[in-house]
Amino acid sequence: MAGRIPREFIDELLNRVDIVEVIDARVPLKKAGKDFKACCPFHDEKTPSFTVSQTKQFYHCFGCGKNGSAIGFLMDYENLSFPEAVTDLAQRAGLTVPTEASGTAAPDSGSHALLDLLNEAGRFYRNQLRSHPSAGKAIDYLKGRGLSGEITQSFGIGYAPEGWDNLTKVLGKDDPTRDRLVAAGLAAKKEGGGYYDRFRNRVIFPIHDHRGRIVGFGGRVMDPKDEPKYLNSPETALFHKGRELYGLFRARDAIKKSGRVLVVEGYMDVVALAQHGIDYAVATLGTAATRDHLDRLYRHAPEVVFCFDGDRAGREAAWRALETTLPLLHEGRQASFLFLPEGEDPDTLVRKEGRETFEARLKTARSLPDYLFESLMQKVDLGRLDGRARLVELARPYLTKLAPGALRELMLDRLAELSQVERGKLSTLLRSEGKALAPDMAPPASGRQPASLLWKAAAMLVQDPGLAVEAPDAAELVLLDEPGADLFRELLAWFRVNPGRTTAALLEQYRDHPQEATIGRLAAWRHPGLAGDVAAEFAGAVERLHEQAIRSRIDRLLSQPVRNEQEQLELAQLLKLLAADKTPLSRD
Ligand code: CTP
Ligand code: MN
Repeated sequence: MAGRIPREFIDELLNRVDIVEVIDARVPLKKAGKDFKACCPFHDEKTPSFTVSQTKQFYHCFGCGKNGSAIGFLMDYENLSFPEAVTDLAQRAGLTVPTEASGTAAPDSGSHALLDLLNEAGRFYRNQLRSHPSAGKAIDYLKGRGLSGEITQSFGIGYAPEGWDNLTKVLGKDDPTRDRLVAAGLAAKKEGGGYYDRFRNRVIFPIHDHRGRIVGFGGRVMDPKDEPKYLNSPETALFHKGRELYGLFRARDAIKKSGRVLVVEGYMDVVALAQHGIDYAVATLGTAATRDHLDRLYRHAPEVVFCFDGDRAGREAAWRALETTLPLLHEGRQASFLFLPEGEDPDTLVRKEGRETFEARLKTARSLPDYLFESLMQKVDLGRLDGRARLVELARPYLTKLAPGALRELMLDRLAELSQVERGKLSTLLRSEGKALAPDMAPPASGRQPASLLWKAAAMLVQDPGLAVEAPDAAELVLLDEPGADLFRELLAWFRVNPGRTTAALLEQYRDHPQEATIGRLAAWRHPGLAGDVAAEFAGAVERLHEQAIRSRIDRLLSQPVRNEQEQLELAQLLKLLAADKTPLSRD
């Protein structure tokens, strides 16, 4: 996640790489004026509206609206997570990614050797399933669970025969290599010296990362008496349970095509679903879904359907998933919950019912908003006034997790309806919770509607950060109090403290920030009729904003029935300022 890599490093990285090179290597660009153009790789088009600006280090498609820095481009184009994209770019720029917390490994040079070993181990286990004398019992087990040879192969499923060192004998030529087997999570060191295989007498499921490389394994016993039922690779430099999802690499095209991804609990669930033609399922690896997992899934599809057991543990797991998902639900993303009958899992159900019935069940999955309100309503008595108040209090921490946008508004409407608290009062009640609900700077609603002055000024600043140096000190604009004024002051201050930073650097500064989307829109906004002198236009806009601020302050003071001495003085000063018809702004 973003927090692990220091912001300064992101700045340095964006200084070193050139977005034009990064994109051109993947989508050939043509020079057009001072920018570069191509047909947009993110939507179908015949005439190029995908634009890359070298000075801003920013790309933007006027067709589909996608935009971002070189990091953002890589994330979208190659379906990478933030740290993955940063690591890729850093490698190309010859930089090493520092991490703030220890233990979060960015693959270093040693990772190549580990990846090779893991890949060889995968081949070894597959070969054992084909040719080991005792492979019959693994094949029988897989057949017994309804899997065809084809699907077994397609998941790369293998077999670790009984015995302490089948793998180590073959892959561990010398001590350094055997130590690498340990680092890869494939072997362990004995106390008295020597090494032994981690996976023995198990069916083996390889786990692939976002590029389809094997980073770990899961192994299942074949005899119900053996323990533990599943054994996974330990956390290694390459394998993090909180990040990887079983089946995602194989499922990525089907997920994209169906527009949704089904999240289940077990390896066998994913494989059995695929056996029945449902190939857009992935599994977490024995943990709850994390923010990283969901970030990654939403890059592949706008809808995530969680599948849980109908029992208490399933409901608890669903609630955890709901809490993790809430902050990610923006830009039209959806989440739903499917609860299965007691005693069933996707594997047993799809084998009993087949694809169509199972997919019909998916249609009945409860939407996250419905699930949230239904669950909260079970805890209160809506027939009582204090019960309805309780509902508001219970809902508050969840609704404040939502990013500003249509979903939050609709959920507030719903809460207003259920609690019978007036909609306006509800917004105020929830706003007192914190910054997440602070009003956003409003973009012009449509192409025709003129943008607000504040919006124009902010857009000019974001697109041409050098303007910050010329602009008045942010402190002089404190009187501005329309929505977005805080953000404008913040931007001004940031560019002044960080001269020479590009639009892209700002964008990365606001990654995962509630106002990230606003910054992106400001960066991409085209100022209609902006001619030559941007600096003059910007200065003019800021002066008018300042004047507006003075006027509204004066109005407020005048409308007060009583003013104290200080307010009287302030009023006089403001009136004088206004009369001078020139707002004296300091330009230091
Ligand atoms: N799991 C694990 N370690 C265990 C048990 C389970 O890591 N000792 C993880 C595995 O990823 C497994 C998932 O939790 O796939 C679900 O486990 P469970 O519900 O116990 O089993 P099923 O998936 O139903 O397994 P199976 O159908 O093979 O019995
Ligand atoms: Mn099962």
